[in-house]
Amino acid sequence: MYNFREMMKDVYWVGGSDKRLSRFENLFPLPSGVAYNAYLIVDEKTAVFDTVDASISTLFVNNVKKILDGRDLDYIVINHLEPDHSAALAELLVNYPKATIVTNQTAVRILEQFYGKQFSNIMIIKECDKLELGQHTIEFMFTPMAHWPESMMSYETSKGILFSSDAFGSFGAVDGKLFDYEVGLENIDFSEARRYYSNILGKYGDRVQNALRKASAKKINLLCPVHGIVFKDHIDKILEKYILWSNYESEQKGVTIAYASMYGNTKDAAFMLANELAKNGVKNIDIFDVSETDISFVISSIYKNSHFVLMSVTYNMEIYPKMQQLLDDMKALTIRSKKAAVIGNGSWAPIATKKMSEHLCQLKDVVEIFEPITIKSALNDVTAMQVEELAKRFSEDILS
Ligand code: FEO
Repeated sequence: MYNFREMMKDVYWVGGSDKRLSRFENLFPLPSGVAYNAYLIVDEKTAVFDTVDASISTLFVNNVKKILDGRDLDYIVINHLEPDHSAALAELLVNYPKATIVTNQTAVRILEQFYGKQFSNIMIIKECDKLELGQHTIEFMFTPMAHWPESMMSYETSKGILFSSDAFGSFGAVDGKLFDYEVGLENIDFSEARRYYSNILGKYGDRVQNALRKASAKKINLLCPVHGIVFKDHIDKILEKYILWSNYESEQKGVTIAYASMYGNTKDAAFMLANELAKNGVKNIDIFDVSETDISFVISSIYKNSHFVLMSVTYNMEIYPKMQQLLDDMKALTIRSKKAAVIGNGSWAPIATKKMSEHLCQLKDVVEIFEPITIKSALNDVTAMQVEELAKRFSEDILS
C-alpha cells in the first residue's frame, strides 16, 4: 500500500493521516484526525524531510520505496525530533541503512534519549549550512522552541520550498486535498490551525516571531508544515495569522464567555450575558461550558477574541476544578493583551470571584474592565442588573 503526491517535479509528499487517534499528545481532541507530513526530494542525491508517527510508519516507508524504486536514500533530514515526526526513523533506516541523518547538535542529544545510540551515521549541521542534492540546494534555519529546542526548518533554494516543521501546521487529516487551493480559501479551517498554534506553540510567541523573521526573509512558493495542508496560493493568509498570533493580537473584536456551572444558575447568567451582548449589537460571541468543551477550544477562542468573561461557581472553597484548569492553561500558554471580566457564584462562601481576579492579575496586559460580579446561588434583580451593565460596558468597548 502506498499513497503519495508529487507536489512539483521531483518533490513529493510522502506523509499520511490518522483518523483513529482520539487525542493529539494524548491531550487535545482530534475531531477531524491529524496528518503527519513528510517530504521527499529526488535529485542526484535523495533526501527525506522528517519521518512520521508510528501509526503510519509503514505507509510512509512504502511511499518512499515506491518513489525511489530501488534507488538509495541518501539523506534523512530531521527538522524536529518529537516522536510524531521521528518514530518511523528506525523503520526507514532498516530499508535504507546507508542513509545519513542530517540534523543539528541539539537534536542528536534528544535522538539518543529517545532511541539510544543505534544511529551512528549522522551529519551535524549548523545554522545556514547548505546541503547540495544536485539541482536542489537545502539551507537550514534554526528555529529553537518552535516547537522544541532542536526545531529547525529546511529551505529549498531553487524552487522556494520551506519545510517548516510544526510551524504553520494544523489539526485535521488531509482528506486527499493536500494543497490550500484544492481545499479552497473559504474552506481552509484556520480555527483548527489556531487551536493547534495556541495550544502547541502559543507559549513560545517570541520564538515563533524569530522563526517568522527567518522565514519571511526567504521567497516562499510552497509552505510545507508537518501537520495539515500545504500552502501554495494562500501563504500570505497563514503568515498573517501567525504574525497576529505570535504577537498576541486578537483576530477580531468579540467575546469569549467560559462558564463553570453545577446546577445551571451560572449557566443561566452566562446565557443572559450573551443575550445582552447580542441585543447590544455584538456579533462575535463564543460561549463554552468548561465541563463540556475541551479547554483547547476555549483557549483558541480566547486567542481569537478581544474580550473574555470567566464565570465560575465556588467549589470546596476554590474555583471550580474545570475553570481552574482553564486558568492554569491560560497562564501556561501566556494568554495576554485582552480585556476581561469575572463573575463568581457561591451559596455560602463565594470565593471564586476573588480567586479568578487574582489569577487574571498574573496575565500580562489582561485588564478587567468591569467590577467583578458575585452571584449568590442564582441571579436576582441586583446581580441581573450588574450582568446587563457588564454587557453594556463590553458592548461599548467592542463597538466603539
Ligand atoms: Fe508535531 Fe512538535 O511535533
